[in-house]
Amino acid sequence: MFTLDNISLKLEVDEKVIPILHDVNLQFEAGKMYALTGPNGSGKSSVARVAMGIYQPTGGKVFLDDEDITNLGISERARKGVGYAFQQPPRFKGMQVKDMLGYAMKYSDGFNCQVLRQIGLCPDDYSERTLDSSLSGGEMKRIEIATLLAQNPRVRIFDEPEAGIDLWSFEQLIDVIGESHREDTTTIVISHQEKILNMVDEIVLIEGGTVSMRGDRETIWPRIKESAECACKKNCRLEENLYADCPR
Ligand SMILES: Nc1ncnc2c1ncn2[C@@H]1O[C@H](COP(=O)(O)OP(=O)(O)O)[C@@H](O)[C@H]1O
Ligand SMILES: [Mg+2]
Repeated sequence: MFTLDNISLKLEVDEKVIPILHDVNLQFEAGKMYALTGPNGSGKSSVARVAMGIYQPTGGKVFLDDEDITNLGISERARKGVGYAFQQPPRFKGMQVKDMLGYAMKYSDGFNCQVLRQIGLCPDDYSERTLDSSLSGGEMKRIEIATLLAQNPRVRIFDEPEAGIDLWSFEQLIDVIGESHREDTTTIVISHQEKILNMVDEIVLIEGGTVSMRGDRETIWPRIKESAECACKKNCRLEENLYADCPR
């Protein structure tokens, strides 16, 4: 069981403290697949960053089974079996793809050397490429996903794996995520894609920095649409006020 217990997160930006997450309570069971979804800026990646130890929560605790891992850093959490594929993977000048995969494999309990191929990249073409700006966004994204597959952690979090990936690779990606999910794995996919929402056991809706709903696709989907429509109406009303005095 992977647990986020009453998490809150505030970040200091330009000397101002900004609330990002509040009262986030989530339990993820081993063997199950989850999707985190919700509007842009609602806090999904921040939840993942708190789970991975990139952000230290302002309040609350993170548990892996019964162990409190709140104060552990990223490497220690990786060693214990928590892995995260970034929404926007960082680039590392001078580091080769094979180095990155080799590093991830240190934490792995059963590396599958086919990870690059699985994700649609030929190992001969990519293993000696450098993780710098010479790789396209889609290539970086696929290498990031391959790295998480190589790490093969008990708790794995994919942050919008579909972003920047072409349609053909997307189909392949869904298969790879599904097929690599084991009985003792917890898979959490942050996504807006209906196909991903359809393949998981449970969907968690994040709105305004907290969990607003959990359920299956049929329950959550109308709520997402309603939320998008509300945001649109609110913005339109704002615009009407802003431009009320303007000559038409
Ligand atoms: N390091 C940061 N500095 C300033 N604001 C941040 C930072 N990280 C996240 N935020 C803000 O927190 C909110 C939630 O962001 P995020 O978790 O990335 O949303 P999502 O992944 O749901 O699109 C956004 O308003 C974002 O701008
Ligand atoms: Mg995000």
